[in-house]
Amino acid sequence: MAARSLRIGLIPGDGIGREVIPAGRQVLEAISTSFKLKFDFVDLYAGFETFQQTGNALPDRTVKVLKEECDGALFGAVSSPTTKVVGYSSPIVALRKKLDLYANVRPVKTTATVKSPIDLVIVRENTEDLYVKEERTFESPDGKGKIAEAIKRISERASHRIASIAGEIALRRQKIRDSGVHSVHSRPLVTITHKSNVLSQTDGLFRETARTALSHSSFSDVAVDEQIVDSMVYKLFRQPSAYDVIVAPNLYGDILSDGAAALVGSLGLVPSANVGDGFVIGEPCHGSAPDIMGKSVANPIASIRSAGLMLEFLGEEDAAAKIEKAVESNLDEGRLLSPDMGGKARTEEVVEDILKKL
Ligand code: NAI
Ligand code: MG
Repeated sequence: MAARSLRIGLIPGDGIGREVIPAGRQVLEAISTSFKLKFDFVDLYAGFETFQQTGNALPDRTVKVLKEECDGALFGAVSSPTTKVVGYSSPIVALRKKLDLYANVRPVKTTATVKSPIDLVIVRENTEDLYVKEERTFESPDGKGKIAEAIKRISERASHRIASIAGEIALRRQKIRDSGVHSVHSRPLVTITHKSNVLSQTDGLFRETARTALSHSSFSDVAVDEQIVDSMVYKLFRQPSAYDVIVAPNLYGDILSDGAAALVGSLGLVPSANVGDGFVIGEPCHGSAPDIMGKSVANPIASIRSAGLMLEFLGEEDAAAKIEKAVESNLDEGRLLSPDMGGKARTEEVVEDILKKL
């Protein structure tokens, strides 16, 4: 069988993005032969430094190459100035729009050896809800000050596709578990998050549409549950092992995913994927970490896992499972951990150890 060729865009961005994206690349290169994959990488630019040099944080070429030539991409992080800079806006937000990456997928996982293991993934709708940013401010007609309001828009189309992708992810996670990666779960479960007891129309539509999407025969192996978002936050912190796949509208998903990341101890461990119908961008959850940049102490695991997640969405579950096993073995051994994990290892030592385990 001929090797499958995959062209991957690399967009390190700013700060530690440049120290950790090369780790993602090295890991992909290391697994390529055993899984009959042939990677071809293309370096692309975006971020604040690119903005300072060219006046554009997301050069047209980056978007064009991703759209026309690439199968997927890895994105590091970009720095955003704390005060408003005219003409600058976040390139990852723009990329999600331009490539219609409608799902933000964030797995949060500990290894099996910790006291209460966690293995869940949050699937956040990424295009609508309150983030349509249709806000207005006006004077109250009774003269008692200003009123501001915002539109919360939920569509059947977006709710249906996010629930469907959550169902697909649940099935794929089962496949990866079946190949020997440990887990607290024995069967796929999707939990639909909403607040339809209060927002009966918007969240009501999300809930109903998600239920309909997940009742499709292709998801007959997936158990479906639902939970009101506030009680979910409570249970997520008390009993995180109860969750496998959580699907949520944009705002709840945003909040839940940062909260869930706190459960595993370091931002440097948590990957994400921005997913559309024809494209996926793997992206560590952390930012550009200016406080540690240039010191070779950044934890590369979030980026390495993001590369694995990207492969998972490209249909390479076995390769993704292999990467996850190598990462877990590094964490379980605990010999070569970066400082955020309480260790002393430098970025490249952690990468070397994981490469060895591959
Ligand atoms: P941050 O995620 O960059 O850093 C938060 C803290 O976690 C820092 O103390 C940092 O040293 C530590 N940390 C983050 N990643 C780590 C890793 N891999 N290994 C070890 N320690 C790690 O968030 P912060 O400080 O709020 O933002 C810094 C810059 O990053 C800002 O300009 C912000 O706008 C940008 N940012 C970009 C994101 C993106 O591109 N998607 C996401 C979040 C922030
Ligand atoms: Mg956030």
